Amino acid sequence: MTTNNRIVLSNDHAAIQLRQSIGTHVAALGWEVVDIGPTTQESTNYPKHSEAAAQRVATGDCRLGIILCGTGQGIMMAANKVKGIRCGVCSDTFSARMIRQHNDANMISLGVRVVGEGLALDIVDAYLTTNFEGGRHATRVGMIEALEG
Ligand code: RB5
Repeated sequence: MTTNNRIVLSNDHAAIQLRQSIGTHVAALGWEVVDIGPTTQESTNYPKHSEAAAQRVATGDCRLGIILCGTGQGIMMAANKVKGIRCGVCSDTFSARMIRQHNDANMISLGVRVVGEGLALDIVDAYLTTNFEGGRHATRVGMIEALEG
């Protein structure tokens, strides 16, 4: 298990501003932010940013990751193709707690066209302040991992 305090952030062109707000927010909570951009609003393809962030988590360089696109969906789908990643879209705080408590998600995604900044920061707080419960949920997470081959 990775125990460092680094969290990677990335996004596509739709979500630069929200990434910056989340970065400032999580840094204030004591996390070391690994912001891998992009830095311009030029149209870009979310899978490559998703993969870059997911690799940081999968290799253990970062403990957790938060990725953003218009809906949170495409960037989440790409992240889940990287072995070892468990990422889900969170548009509410209940899901953000549960995805950590029951699913041990090591990444979440948010949709900048779905949630406003205030809710996004609450979702991030819910995700980061919840711990994995283990027990029967560890069995189930193990079953997810087994599907990866
Ligand atoms: C970009 O327009 C948009 O398709 C992307 O941000 C994301 O919503 C894809 O899932």
